[in-house]
Amino acid sequence: MNEEDPLILILYNVELNVSCGDPKDLIALQDTANVAAHIDDALSTRGYRTLPIAVRNSLDELKASLEPFSPETAFVFNFCDGFGGKNKDATKVIRLIERLGFRHTGSSAETNSLCIDKGRTKQRLLATGVPTPSYQVYIQPEGVYRHNLPAIVKPVADDASIGIDLNSVVSNNEELLNRVAYVIKRYRQPALVEEFIPGRELAVSIWGNKYIEVLPITEFDYSRIPNPLNRILSYDSKWVPDSYSFKNIPSHSPADLSTDDRRRVTEAATRAYRAVGLRDLGRVDIRFHNQIPYIIDINEIPDLAPGSGFPNSAKQAGYSYTEMVERILKLAMQRERWLCPQLTFNLLSPQMQTAQAF
Ligand SMILES: Nc1ncnc2c1ncn2[C@@H]1O[C@H](COP(=O)(O)OP(=O)(O)O)[C@@H](O)[C@H]1O
Ligand SMILES: [Mg+2]
Repeated sequence: MNEEDPLILILYNVELNVSCGDPKDLIALQDTANVAAHIDDALSTRGYRTLPIAVRNSLDELKASLEPFSPETAFVFNFCDGFGGKNKDATKVIRLIERLGFRHTGSSAETNSLCIDKGRTKQRLLATGVPTPSYQVYIQPEGVYRHNLPAIVKPVADDASIGIDLNSVVSNNEELLNRVAYVIKRYRQPALVEEFIPGRELAVSIWGNKYIEVLPITEFDYSRIPNPLNRILSYDSKWVPDSYSFKNIPSHSPADLSTDDRRRVTEAATRAYRAVGLRDLGRVDIRFHNQIPYIIDINEIPDLAPGSGFPNSAKQAGYSYTEMVERILKLAMQRERWLCPQLTFNLLSPQMQTAQAF
């Protein structure tokens, strides 16, 4: 390694406080810094020159941190899934790095802002004929709900199950409006109310650009949760190790699906990936009911913590964590036609070479 080797700037957001919501949301917000350290280790192991850059709550500060580097010799691995405590503001970071001329891993600012807003994402899915549950967005806790109950109420622009607990699932109008009021007040954003889809929960990790590869599908096993309305991935189930749901919703991959069902799920997930314009990688969350794969969430910056969904699926497909991280970087560099000495082998895996370009 020497000074002329390209430098990989690993951008990640550091959150010291929650700007709204529940103080325990900080566990999820702060996980990003831990994951960035794993990404750094992986790329360093593969011989890249790396520099982690913590993004705090000032774009000027970020601009100053990037000043010493040139977009010709530095490539950004973007792992900012928020900014200044707000999920929605992650887009500002991408806008800035794009404006400064840096190429980066993952989706464009435009796709990032689309995916962060669940309402806009669903509009796009409906416009392209991809199944997603019917929904209504509330900016005030009033108005008649026009779809089927039970429903689930979520913050319109958060992720990591922030703002989602067992009270999110509502069975009548009064519960619905109460929860809408809670989300608007506590999370300072509109509430998305969506038809509750019972059935199997699947996560589909995908990577690629012109050619995309669907990694082995993950299923979350709800068999230890007797009440069908409690079968959700709440905040606790993802982030609170002592909770009942954390301990009792195991996941496994590959999901046991018939060939036809796997085709249905894969097709819906790849169509969703294309519909919102994801690049390099993404994870599509699905509820599978009556053989319909309903898209409930599209993650443009999926969690890359070792042991989480995307890395687990990559592992099932034969990629170690280190190989997975390097592959994401190479997919981005190849897409950007960015020259890098390490980019010497053909990125198309055997599956991708035969895959149809969806
Ligand atoms: N329409 C729905 N029907 C049933 N469960 C849902 C629905 N929407 C969300 N959930 C449950 O809530 C969890 C979190 O919702 P999701 O939209 O994926 O938000 P996040 O972006 O926070 O991950 C899902 O993994 C699922 O278990
Ligand atoms: Mg999700």
